[in-house]
Amino acid sequence: MSPPSRLGLCAACHGPTGHASVPGVPNLAGQRLDYLRDALSQYRDGRRNVPLMRAAIGPVSTVELDALARWYSAQSPQPQAHP
Ligand code: HEC
Repeated sequence: MSPPSRLGLCAACHGPTGHASVPGVPNLAGQRLDYLRDALSQYRDGRRNVPLMRAAIGPVSTVELDALARWYSAQSPQPQAHP
């Protein structure tokens, strides 16, 4: 799977493979696809009212969000070893 075009918008906080390096930012790697999709739609419509996340997904289309959810869901929940 190649990285989604909008990954850069999310990677600053969540990391390119969903292992967050920023305190308070949840890991996304290996979470269930449905769970990630639901979370994103909840930020989008305000059921999850977190201004940071709402701003981050503001410019991203539903199709692109779906690609991001698939990407993060497909990542290994174990952190990658850095050589
Ligand atoms: C500025 C930092 C930042 C950016 C950029 C960002 N996020 Fe987040 N994200 C957060 C924080 C902080 C939370 C926790 C918010 C909360 O408490 O609900 C979060 C939560 C989430 C969650 C819910 C995870 C869970 O376990 O419930 C998902 C899914 C998510 N982000 C996806 C994305 C995607 C996709 C992008 C890119 C379009 C993105 N985020 C960009 C900081 C960020």
